Amino acid sequence: MTHEPIIETHGLTKRFTAKKKTVEAVADLTFRVARGELVAFLGPNGAGKSTSLRMLTTLLPPTEGTARVVGSDILRDPGGVRARIGYVGQLTSGSFAQRVRDELLSQGAFFGLSRASARVRADELIESLDLSSFATRTVQQLSGGQKRRVDIALALMHAPPLLFLDEPSTGLDPQSRANLWQHILELRERHGTTVFLTTHYLEEADRYAERVMVMDRGRIVADDTATRLKAELAGDVVTLGFADADEARRAAGVVRGLTDREARVVEREVSVTAPDGDALLPAAIRALDEAGIAVRSATGVPPTLDDVFLALTGRTLREADDSGQADENDQQQTAQDEAAGPAKKEAVR
Ligand SMILES: Nc1ncnc2c1ncn2[C@@H]1O[C@H](COP(=O)(O)OP(=O)(O)O)[C@@H](O)[C@H]1O
Ligand SMILES: [Mg+2]
Repeated sequence: MTHEPIIETHGLTKRFTAKKKTVEAVADLTFRVARGELVAFLGPNGAGKSTSLRMLTTLLPPTEGTARVVGSDILRDPGGVRARIGYVGQLTSGSFAQRVRDELLSQGAFFGLSRASARVRADELIESLDLSSFATRTVQQLSGGQKRRVDIALALMHAPPLLFLDEPSTGLDPQSRANLWQHILELRERHGTTVFLTTHYLEEADRYAERVMVMDRGRIVADDTATRLKAELAGDVVTLGFADADEARRAAGVVRGLTDREARVVEREVSVTAPDGDALLPAAIRALDEAGIAVRSATGVPPTLDDVFLALTGRTLREADDSGQADENDQQQTAQDEAAGPAKKEAVR
């Protein structure tokens, strides 16, 4: 039993019908998550991330398919699922009038904890999420990043082994985002919490998540570590510079003999996207030298997850985001600065 996946889905599908038009928001989601994993569900706006999370957290019944979450079936035992998960939705409240610590104690009572164990748990989370400096402030007085941490603490009062976070960092400035991630990583270290979150920020999925599931148009199009996705689906971009365009064209001929990848010529430069740029770069320089062509500059740039998304879908994530409902961009601009203190008005959420 202990090796049972903490999440297991089979063909989870959700179709919405409005005004005789049917939208397949999530199609045939089939995957497993092991205990202790940190999984990022990455995809543009409208990809189906929230809908997936809402099915897994029993807030929305699937049109087809099944899932087991922490040992319970989402349809047959939604109560069992809810008792064992924490969930912070995309649009979180953050407008409570109580002080942070009292808010946590109320939440403990809601989950049926005794007053004593609620106090112990609240203090543990106040420490883990670094809330002590404002534990006696009311939630309304906090910055965006602080509120998000309080939301996470609230979701963890009953010590669930699995935490779902829907776009936890959206709307925060880069510093607060980095800070939030440190806390998420720490929670996992300290409490062994399995974390399943969604994001449309490539850099953070790349940097912090050990497993990235790329979602596009309701489907999972890739599922692996960021490192392997980049190595297998994208490649380093190797760019070599020459004296002039003629020389660059001659050089491209030489480079084409070294790789089956396309060598593009742009003005005085030749560039190749290759899975093993580290090896290609010196080999190309040597071959060009032998051909009597002088290399003026050489760079190798590692791929990003955006290159992976492009390789998988033919669009960059940004383009895909722009064509989705671009509502979140506004939130980003009204983001709060962690350091700006509690007096600022909250972004429209
Ligand atoms: N309640 C709903 N009714 C109709 N369509 C919906 C509903 N919720 C989501 N959708 C549609 O499903 C698709 C996926 O949405 P969502 O899961 O919110 O994507 P994401 O969280 O990745 O931005 C979108 O096309 C969205 O418009
Ligand atoms: Mg969403």
